[in-house]
Amino acid sequence: MNPAQRGAGSASGPPERPPSRSVTVPEVRAAKGSGRRLVMLTAYDCPTARLLDAAGVDLILVGDSVGNNVLGYDSTLPVTMDEMVHHTKAVVRGTRRALVVADMPYLSYQTGRRDAVRNAGRFLKEAGAAAVKIEGGARRAGLVRALVEAEIPVMGHVGLTPQSVHLMGGYRVQGKRVDEARALVEDARALEDAGIFSLVLEGMPEAVGRMITDATGIPTIGIGAGRHCDGQVLVFHDLFGLNPGPLPRFARRYADLAGTITEATERFIADVRGGAFPAEAETYSSPSPVAGGGRPDR
Ligand code: KIV
Repeated sequence: MNPAQRGAGSASGPPERPPSRSVTVPEVRAAKGSGRRLVMLTAYDCPTARLLDAAGVDLILVGDSVGNNVLGYDSTLPVTMDEMVHHTKAVVRGTRRALVVADMPYLSYQTGRRDAVRNAGRFLKEAGAAAVKIEGGARRAGLVRALVEAEIPVMGHVGLTPQSVHLMGGYRVQGKRVDEARALVEDARALEDAGIFSLVLEGMPEAVGRMITDATGIPTIGIGAGRHCDGQVLVFHDLFGLNPGPLPRFARRYADLAGTITEATERFIADVRGGAFPAEAETYSSPSPVAGGGRPDR
């Protein structure tokens, strides 16, 4: 467990987790050029984080995509700081090894450096995350500096940035024109100069993902940015088949949990309605009616 993830505590106390060797921010930064390809997945709750962590992912992102994937919003824009802190706390409780990165939600940092430091600080101090992620390019450089000065490691995020959905006119692949591609490279360099330790590249042509990866000394973690990034990230619900409808082009479904859950639920319904659940093995027996309110054996 690294010191940042141990958390500095809060009124409700620090997150408690057993000690183990954790992935650290310097280790992630050092992955650049080392041949180690970083693996990041999103998670929004404790049991999911526990599974991903035990399976060996390097980083867990508590994405503001919790809005679309868990909370039923149409976009990430309505997600609040309190919602993000709540989900980040749960993820940290389930994580022993992976580096937990908390996503700064819309308007938690765009309103100024003071707000940004206070809100980002909550993720480290209250929730026990090790780092935060913010969206946006060169115009966020000052903000990144302020966060790093406050001892907060920052992951950048450029390209298709979902919090800019209205400015972009939809969720559109970015950097298709040469001038846009160059601007993205400049964005990445400006963020690196400001002190980010890694950079998410989302929704851009593979060639642009490669240009940025080659032009920077920090690891790039791609989602829809092609094969040449230093790592890859996917959203949990896409990877495990929990989102209805067609997958985005860049995602791959590794399991059909929606199918598994639906099939298991249908069997449970049939068993309850048909009287097959519970069976004798799933009931408590007693020679005489149980007296008092004692807790039954498990
Ligand atoms: O919120 C999120 O899930 C993200 C990933 C797409 C990188 O920002």
